[in-house]
Amino acid sequence: MTAPTQSETDRVVIFDTTLRDGEQSPGATMTHEEKLDVAEVLDQMGVDVIEAGFPIASEGDFFAVNEIAKRTRNAVVCGLARAAFKDIDRCAEAIKPAARKRIHTFLSTSPVHMKHKLQKEPHEVYEMVIAQVTRARDYTDDVEWSSEDGTRTEIDFLCRCVEAAIKAGATTINIPDTVGYTTPEEYYTLFKTVRERVPNSDQAVFSVHCHDDLGMAVANSLAGVRGGARQIECTINGIGERAGNTALEEVVMAMKVRNEVLPWWTGIDATMLTRASKLVSAVTSFPVQYNKAIVGRNAFAHESGIHQDGMLKNAQTYEIMTPESVGVKQTSLVMGKHSGRHAFVRKLEDLGYKLAGNQLEDAFVRFKALADRKKHVYDEDIEALVDEEIATAQDRIKLQSLSVIAGTHGPQRATMKLVIDGRTVIEECEGNGPVDAVFNCIKALVPHEAMLELYQVHAVTEGTDAQAEVSVRLSEADKTVTAKGADPDTLVASAKAYLGALNKLMIKRQRTKPEAMAATP
Ligand code: KIV
Ligand code: ZN
Repeated sequence: MTAPTQSETDRVVIFDTTLRDGEQSPGATMTHEEKLDVAEVLDQMGVDVIEAGFPIASEGDFFAVNEIAKRTRNAVVCGLARAAFKDIDRCAEAIKPAARKRIHTFLSTSPVHMKHKLQKEPHEVYEMVIAQVTRARDYTDDVEWSSEDGTRTEIDFLCRCVEAAIKAGATTINIPDTVGYTTPEEYYTLFKTVRERVPNSDQAVFSVHCHDDLGMAVANSLAGVRGGARQIECTINGIGERAGNTALEEVVMAMKVRNEVLPWWTGIDATMLTRASKLVSAVTSFPVQYNKAIVGRNAFAHESGIHQDGMLKNAQTYEIMTPESVGVKQTSLVMGKHSGRHAFVRKLEDLGYKLAGNQLEDAFVRFKALADRKKHVYDEDIEALVDEEIATAQDRIKLQSLSVIAGTHGPQRATMKLVIDGRTVIEECEGNGPVDAVFNCIKALVPHEAMLELYQVHAVTEGTDAQAEVSVRLSEADKTVTAKGADPDTLVASAKAYLGALNKLMIKRQRTKPEAMAATP
């Protein structure tokens, strides 16, 4: 089969907002280092624009965007700003070191948003559009303007705002489906209409930005492209506000696998999709749904006898793309207590991880300890171990030891030793069951008001010596965080997960400026 010719007019810009819209979703907090790791992978995989954060939101966001701007080699680095000059100025300062920089400034244009959120009349909003884009153009030639809640905006007003934004210098026009309300046919017509009716529409690239509230984000994005948009805003694993955003891996592979009916192309190296998915899942502690398209654990698994039989005869019977094409490596390297550092590093590479320095040393020590306790160390064990290593590298509270007395005669009792900012503390507590005793120790050693919203245990592999992977979600005021912990001992895994969530909450407390976040999209 000959490769289809790729014309520049069919090239779709991939704008990744994992670090902004993705990180904004409840519980998906990333540390500074984690954001840098994610940005590096996005840059390597060929993302065209990295939306690195919302610089006015907090000092943490500002420094992350600023550092990503310094380090990124290929992609355009973009920061988000509301229609206020202080937002735009701060954003411009954060992205200043980037070789290629973009300011993304947005304003609501729908009747419901203008009336209740902005409390402004349409003519005031119209003037603000011109002012915000003009201000952003003082700093860079690459300015994106978004009509927030674009799909619920009156078409005449939308066209007027788009025309004004382009006239003021916007080079990309994004029409978001902020509330995940549109349908493919509707979104297609919206882009077609706006592009036909706005006289200067040929001077800007049009962009789709979809939320998945009705499960149509990917279909809607592709429909918008059919209507003439040439930029897709998306996130790894589809993380994002509420039900999430368009999943990068899904739109990219849809265009690749079904190019005869979706005749557009991107610069993404699809063999890095699995690695990016695993990294984002690890740093956010958001598990990837097993049956998730492209990157789910079962995406290439064939269970039924009929399917297995077909696969053995010819893989194309039930496979529309190969696992290798999205970076799934079929490895035959079985790991155990005799495996050395070299084999461990190779296994990590096969699984898509790139660790170095202390992180690699620590992961190897953890692997050896696990192999001493467990006969077979499976790929899933190593993934859980490395994910935890990545997620806990910056933790201020660390578990040093835990012992628990449990059984039929309560009350159960736990003794826990923690290291908090280098200081060792110890506590002994009772509880209504061993998990309760463990969590009571944590509450005594690290007093806090956070509520436990989710406690979930699952086995990483099969067998009674399998590692337990525990997920914990904590919420405090308007902040929600999720963390995972893995260990062959379920109670140790529980303690690690709870402490991981507390560590994330501490980061979030430091970075949130409530007044700056109040009007975020
Ligand atoms: O969903 C939305 O409208 C947004 C904008 C800021 C683009 O995230
Ligand atoms: Zn959004």
